[in-house]
Amino acid sequence: MEIRKFNDPVLRKRAIKVKKIDEEIRKIASDMFSIMKEGQGVGLAGPQVGILKRIIVFESDHLKESVLALINPKIIKKSREKAEDAEGCLSFPGIYLEIKRSKEVFVKGLDLGGNIVEIKAKGLLARILQHEIDHLNGTLFFDRLNLLKRIKLKFKNPSLKV
Ligand code: NI
Repeated sequence: MEIRKFNDPVLRKRAIKVKKIDEEIRKIASDMFSIMKEGQGVGLAGPQVGILKRIIVFESDHLKESVLALINPKIIKKSREKAEDAEGCLSFPGIYLEIKRSKEVFVKGLDLGGNIVEIKAKGLLARILQHEIDHLNGTLFFDRLNLLKRIKLKFKNPSLKV
């Protein structure tokens, strides 16, 4: 398992729903968590390691360890109020962008035991969850920039498919 980067087409694919949470899924999540920590990231999604399954792992000071992986996560509600903050992505090393996202989100998914998990997140965790769930739909952080900012990004990184 390794982190897929830049123009790797897998990053543009839509991940499919996990039907059964078994040992294989738990192993994937655990490996993803290790890779995320190794890369000093705060979140990672299946497609970023070439696995087109709806699995995300993330870092949080506020949640207990058992929910640091979410299977089939879904944003149920998001605040209209938005916040802009710097974001990076393990698939785009060295690129940091100011991205506008909802301040708060309500996310539902399953933990690695198959239990329903509901997370009311704000601040950094809300941002991480939105970023990672985007990955499951093939959406990348710079897709959230306005046209002018995307053009600027393209000038700085001409080989990047923005
Ligand atoms: Ni990312």
